[in-house]
Amino acid sequence: MSKKNSLILLRVILGILILVNMAIIFDFSKQTGEKSSETSGKVAYSVAEVTVPQFDEKPKTEQQKIVQKLQHPVRKAAHMAEFASLGALVFLFLLTWKKGLWFKYGGSILFAFLYACTDEAHQSITSQRSAQFSDILIDASGALISCSILLLVVCLIRGKQKRDARIAVSVYPVSNPKIDRRLRIAVAADLHGTPGEPIVELLRAQKPDLILIPGDLTDDRGLRLWMPSTAKFLQDCAAIAPTYYSLGNHELGCYHKGNPFRKPRKITPPDDLAERVAKTGAVLLENSMIARDGLTICGLTSGLDGEKNAPDGDTLNKFAEAEGFKILLCHHPEYYAKYIRPLPIDLTVCGHAHGGHWRVFGRGVYAPGQGLFPKYTSGAVDGGRCVISCGLGNHTKIPRFFNPREVVVIDVE
Ligand SMILES: [Fe+2]
Repeated sequence: MSKKNSLILLRVILGILILVNMAIIFDFSKQTGEKSSETSGKVAYSVAEVTVPQFDEKPKTEQQKIVQKLQHPVRKAAHMAEFASLGALVFLFLLTWKKGLWFKYGGSILFAFLYACTDEAHQSITSQRSAQFSDILIDASGALISCSILLLVVCLIRGKQKRDARIAVSVYPVSNPKIDRRLRIAVAADLHGTPGEPIVELLRAQKPDLILIPGDLTDDRGLRLWMPSTAKFLQDCAAIAPTYYSLGNHELGCYHKGNPFRKPRKITPPDDLAERVAKTGAVLLENSMIARDGLTICGLTSGLDGEKNAPDGDTLNKFAEAEGFKILLCHHPEYYAKYIRPLPIDLTVCGHAHGGHWRVFGRGVYAPGQGLFPKYTSGAVDGGRCVISCGLGNHTKIPRFFNPREVVVIDVE
């Protein structure tokens, strides 16, 4: 079914539900006072059975007193519920059109209020019933509550969509005597298969000299299937600037120790991965390095493998002895302090921590591999020797808070 037809069907269903809801309200209001009391009495009796301790063992006269006491609030609650569902249905119906959220919210409550007025008028001409303005207000307050809850949900969803769509660009100036020209490096970390088009636009706008992708561009399944979107992203990046890519833990199928939903498991990348990447114009660096224009760039493959979580020492030692301005792609920022800081490596770019997912007072809350309130989640560390990206993925069900997705730009001078 096309999107347009689905929308029409949804409107028809909601329209029918609104009419049914209105008919139910009308039907209750046409009951005589006696019949209405009988109905609310039955409901009050059931409520008493559930809420009053040892109700069944009490004498009949006491039971009647309790039921009579409950009848009034039960009747009002029933009215509120009828109008709460009417207001919510009208609001949902109006939400099938775009724009004017507050108008739809107010319009739905007004509709319920006006129908409550006609309902009271109906009751005023029904035998043994009466009309009261306070009842109109009680009915309308039901709609006010339900519509307010719906409004909150809509705002939360729209807020999440806006947050998901937002990508920040963070620029970090770094000085190093080995560099005698402008060197602008863009970092795109942790896409996790997220659509690349808006990211490519942002990368292009930064006019970088290099693009670095330090892992988790996709996950193991995405990598094995070699998703066209992955190839396209690499191709687009390579068309902007020389692009280097290293493997993160998700590309190796190495999930985090202690994650109850994902057991650590080893899935090796396809044998011809380097060739596939090369066809896009990008370069895959798997514990390997490349020299160009006075730079040496090394890609450190994630060392997370079940219980073990350590980088390849030989690669690091070999890279430390290399010439030129040394740039290391290292997915895990937690490797920096322990394995990389002591070595003469000029710049390390990382991802993995996703900025700590939620940021409170400028600090991340949780990062895999570092736990609660992790130290290495975002920004420049050690005077710019290590720069950590908050990542570009919006793939998890838990939304990011105060932590937009991020393209990192490093200006080395
Ligand atoms: Fe990761």
